Amino acid sequence: MFPTKRPRRLRVNHKTRRLVRQIFVKPQNLVYPIFVAENIEEPKEIAAMPNQMHWPPEMAYVPVQKAINNNVYSFLVFGVPNHKDESGTEAYNENNVVCRAIKNIKKHCPEAYIITDVCLCAYTSHGHCGLITESGHVDNDASIKLIAESALAHAKAGADMVAPSDMMDGRIAAIRTTLDDNGYTDTPIMAYSAKYASAFYGPFREAAGSAPGKGDRKGYQMDYAVSAKEACKEFEEDISEGADIIMVKPGIAYLDIVKEASEKFNCPVAVYQVSGEYSMIKAAAEKGWIDERQIVTESLIAMKRAGADIIITYFAPEAGEWLC
Ligand code: PBG
Repeated sequence: MFPTKRPRRLRVNHKTRRLVRQIFVKPQNLVYPIFVAENIEEPKEIAAMPNQMHWPPEMAYVPVQKAINNNVYSFLVFGVPNHKDESGTEAYNENNVVCRAIKNIKKHCPEAYIITDVCLCAYTSHGHCGLITESGHVDNDASIKLIAESALAHAKAGADMVAPSDMMDGRIAAIRTTLDDNGYTDTPIMAYSAKYASAFYGPFREAAGSAPGKGDRKGYQMDYAVSAKEACKEFEEDISEGADIIMVKPGIAYLDIVKEASEKFNCPVAVYQVSGEYSMIKAAAEKGWIDERQIVTESLIAMKRAGADIIITYFAPEAGEWLC
């Protein structure tokens, strides 16, 4: 008798498949990144990321409202400042572009949950995520003080959560202490814990105007050719310093790391489907080579299956609609 097992029995028609499906992505678990930029009056499309915009802070509520209409309630706000200098002064200015956008969103969309990206790279003239010493080295300990100040400025403006993406050592503890000392004990931290030095961030650097002028980020972001143990070290460290949520970034090429995080650590795991992943899907779909909706759904479910609780994606508004 062959075959003795027939796994196809449970795939035979859509009613059976519907019954046995286990993995669902809910719009409530999606986070939509938005870019707020100074010196523009109207939304302006980001060339390398079709359909994603730079928004003036006074209009930040517009993409937020659109996403909320599709049951996506959480947002990751990135600032694109006008002024950049050596020490990223604008990053911790309490009236910077991100702080103004937070207030604008809070005013128009009280249901929105606002997470802010905390980093210096969009604010420094050299484009690095921390301060540069005279020898050209990124100065870890001096940087984390300013990164913590930046997180505090966001919290004061009304951010619900902060998400440091700089990959400096000790920044979670620095942020936690600064927030607590100023009374923001209930503001959670989502740590970009396993953030790899990845070419998948290419389109984002155009979006944030944050490409490093000299050198690259390999001295602080992780090397993708090192085993998952390195990621576990970062998760452990961030959790012990006070991270409430740990993140893996990029997404689809790093699902082994997501699985590791979700199996080994007792906190929610977020994954970031980054700009390169977004733009590759967009470009291929524009050419008619793939079906955008199906590819996006499949990718998001793969992330969920790997163990992600939260998915950060530029497809959030559309996905919110498709998943319902
Ligand atoms: C800032 C930051 C980056 C991204 C999120 N925060 C860029 C980088 O590290 O170079 C990438 C997001 C994306 O590609 O969508 N440090």
